[in-house]
Amino acid sequence: YALQSSNSFNIKANCPQIYFPSSFAELQQLPELTAKHCYILGEGTNTLFVEPQAPIIIQPKFTGIDIIEQDDHFVVSIGAAENWHHLVCFCLEQGIYGLENLALIPGSVGAAPVQNIGAYGVELADYCQEVQWYEFASKTMHVLTKQECRFAYRDSIFKQERYNQGLITQVTLKLPKAWQANLSYAGLDALATDSTAKQVMAQVIALRSSKLPDPKELANAGSFFKNPIVSAADFAQLQQQYPSMPHYPQPNDQIKLAAAWLIEQAGLKGFRHHHVGVHRQQALVLVNYGSDVGGDIVSLAKYIQRKVAQQFSVTLIPEVRMITEQGERSFSSLSD
Ligand code: EPU
Repeated sequence: YALQSSNSFNIKANCPQIYFPSSFAELQQLPELTAKHCYILGEGTNTLFVEPQAPIIIQPKFTGIDIIEQDDHFVVSIGAAENWHHLVCFCLEQGIYGLENLALIPGSVGAAPVQNIGAYGVELADYCQEVQWYEFASKTMHVLTKQECRFAYRDSIFKQERYNQGLITQVTLKLPKAWQANLSYAGLDALATDSTAKQVMAQVIALRSSKLPDPKELANAGSFFKNPIVSAADFAQLQQQYPSMPHYPQPNDQIKLAAAWLIEQAGLKGFRHHHVGVHRQQALVLVNYGSDVGGDIVSLAKYIQRKVAQQFSVTLIPEVRMITEQGERSFSSLSD
């Protein structure tokens, strides 16, 4: 099965088998798969096939959006295969607010909890009530509360203890009726404090469109690396040398740095090597101008990682998932 149109990097890869479960019964009928050797694909907007062969793919097809209105909030349950941006638009049209800062994030609803998608000062964890998850080994459904999901920056239990053990079928959000615009992020602070949710969404869309390339026009997977988190002590040293370095204090005395800034300072913004490169408007986005080969992106990313490490002694770790014929692999285990 050809996967080129199922990954936003537009890389050529083939898998031996693909399953599209859309019900509990279909999940139970899946053959005994060791999840280590298969990969659960949403819309493929955060996935890099690093080899021409991909493993067995499971692409969940659970659909539907259910809304329950309570006194002071809405409970919205969404099938994993629904498109995230479509959900955001749908909620706003129904007068349900809160997701507007997360407009235009590519990908499916089921993928959203895995890396706790976030943008412009809001993250999924802020509104997630629970996640319905199918466990391969026991062939049963589980409901994980928000606390059990252990959300953190671009992280959750689905990348940790529950990694590769099952798949998300449904996400339930709790969206309070009492709503206030979240204008904390740079670029939104220009909006009036009494802006409507639709105005915030329009501004988020304008901001994203000005920096992030549309995968349909220029293949990419959004931010390629996570913003690195360093100790306060390491940051203090860096700041002496680079006083203007952007930084965001985190809980427990850690500091998040801006990977895009590090890459730009390393002189790599707009860098191009053959058919792959670093986006001109946003240095954290790697773009594919026309390569069919995932390894080309890996080589570019390794080069960026080396350059940034040389200059800042900071290791950039991809947020994009690396998929080989044998299943997912860590970036550090891949050869250049
Ligand atoms: N910057 C540069 N050079 C650049 C781009 C940015 O120096 O080429 C600086 C900016 O001036 C700013 C800082 O880097 O001081 C942060 O930039 P930006 O606000 O564009 O956000 P980001 O940290 O690069 C993160 C998320 C994005 C999300 C935006 C907005 C990660 C890995 N990325 O990017 O998420 O849209 O914030 O909230 O956390 C994604 O995950 O795919 C993604 C696009």
